[in-house]
Amino acid sequence: MPRREVVYEPLPSQLQFHVLGTRFKGFSGPVGSGKTEALCQEALRLAYVNGPVMGLVGAPTYRMLADVTRMKFLEFLERNSIPHRFHKSENALTLDECGARIIFRSLDQPTRLVGTTLAWFALDELTYSKEDSWRRLEARLREPRAKEPVGCAVWTPKGFDWVYNRFIGPKKVRGYGAIFARPGENRHLPDGFYDSLKESYDDRFYKQEAEGEYLSVFAGQAYYAFDRNQSVRPLGFDPAAPLCWSLDFNVDPACSVLAQVVDTSSRDDRINGIRRQVVHVLDELVLPDTRTVEHVTEFIKRIEPLYSQGLGAIRIFGDASGDANKSSSLKTDWQQVKELLRSNARVPVAYHVPAANPPVRGRIAAVNSMIRNAQGERRLCVDPKCFELIADLEQVAWKRDSAGNTLDALDKSNPKRTHTSDALGYLVWATCRPNQPGPQSTPLLGGVR
Ligand SMILES: Nc1ncnc2c1ncn2[C@@H]1O[C@H](COP(=O)(O)OP(=O)(O)O)[C@@H](O)[C@H]1O
Ligand SMILES: [Mg+2]
Repeated sequence: MPRREVVYEPLPSQLQFHVLGTRFKGFSGPVGSGKTEALCQEALRLAYVNGPVMGLVGAPTYRMLADVTRMKFLEFLERNSIPHRFHKSENALTLDECGARIIFRSLDQPTRLVGTTLAWFALDELTYSKEDSWRRLEARLREPRAKEPVGCAVWTPKGFDWVYNRFIGPKKVRGYGAIFARPGENRHLPDGFYDSLKESYDDRFYKQEAEGEYLSVFAGQAYYAFDRNQSVRPLGFDPAAPLCWSLDFNVDPACSVLAQVVDTSSRDDRINGIRRQVVHVLDELVLPDTRTVEHVTEFIKRIEPLYSQGLGAIRIFGDASGDANKSSSLKTDWQQVKELLRSNARVPVAYHVPAANPPVRGRIAAVNSMIRNAQGERRLCVDPKCFELIADLEQVAWKRDSAGNTLDALDKSNPKRTHTSDALGYLVWATCRPNQPGPQSTPLLGGVR
């Protein structure tokens, strides 16, 4: 096997990961703990050890593979002048010294992962991928010439999921092992890296993402950070900020919230490029058996008194699926909103509706972090007249299957619940979502779920 020296000084947990002797091995750690770095190093090591056979480097989505994992791997080859040829059309690479071939694949389409025999594979952010993808790759690890057939992966904890069950939990699979990075271990991060996360993450999410803990973040009460004694108070309209209207296109009830996103950044914050925002939910519309036209008509009526209070602009947010054309002869919900506001609103109206809805987990984590972040700051206030929104924030829960496992969706068994808080979530996601690392930031977390 050709030897190759590289410039790399592993952190203690990275070293443990490299020397772990199980056939399937993992590295679990918080954001920024050096997981992708360790994965690329391990992939290179496996390529050299195994020689002229095929290995696979994977990530949950194509974007993440191209922007993070593959980029880091290629940068490392360049920096260490490791001779290689990248074959763009095949998204593959040959290492000239050892003859290894490495294919780069995203794991979001498990059916594409059948086929060629692999000697090894290395996967980034495994908790964002489906177990099915893992199973398919596991079945491909059967290259008879492989000297060290290893399937390895790194991840940020996501509660008690399939990755936990396979690698860590009480019923861990034989031949599996994992090591844990300690929070704060990576001394190569910029100063204040974790402090900035503390500001934009809620408590539980911070423990998971920045401290690498396994928690039931997405179980039980969805808006667990909410406490009506802390977050509900009478709010007035602030003429300095536009009025935001965010809609959920449910029919019974049709729901929306009227809110303002108020900039509270100090002069120092602005100089330092920091933006502080608070969300004031002033009012809600919850209208039984109501179509979009009546919903907008009610909104127009409701904002009438605000013109004399200095209303200067309206910003519209909401459910992206309102663009789905229910029948080709009908106008979409958003077309109806636009037409009605064009002829009835007396101030400029701007639309901030994304092409696709954010993932549910990311949206709810963003609302929780505004309700109360890991530093204890509350940046979301609700006026007491928003009865249904307050009920949602207290009662909306994650869905469970018959065995009691939390599913990746909200419990919709009560038809009154979730719509008003969904509407609020679209607004918060569009205006105040934290810059979350991981696949979620390439449009979160759209990212994953
Ligand atoms: N052993 C190391 N030596 C030097 N820099 C490192 C090392 N491990 C990680 N880093 C650097 O720390 C930062 C975070 O590492 P990364 O692997 O991206 O973390 P994660 O994937 O866990 O979020 C990156 O800039 C990376 O280059
Ligand atoms: Mg990473």
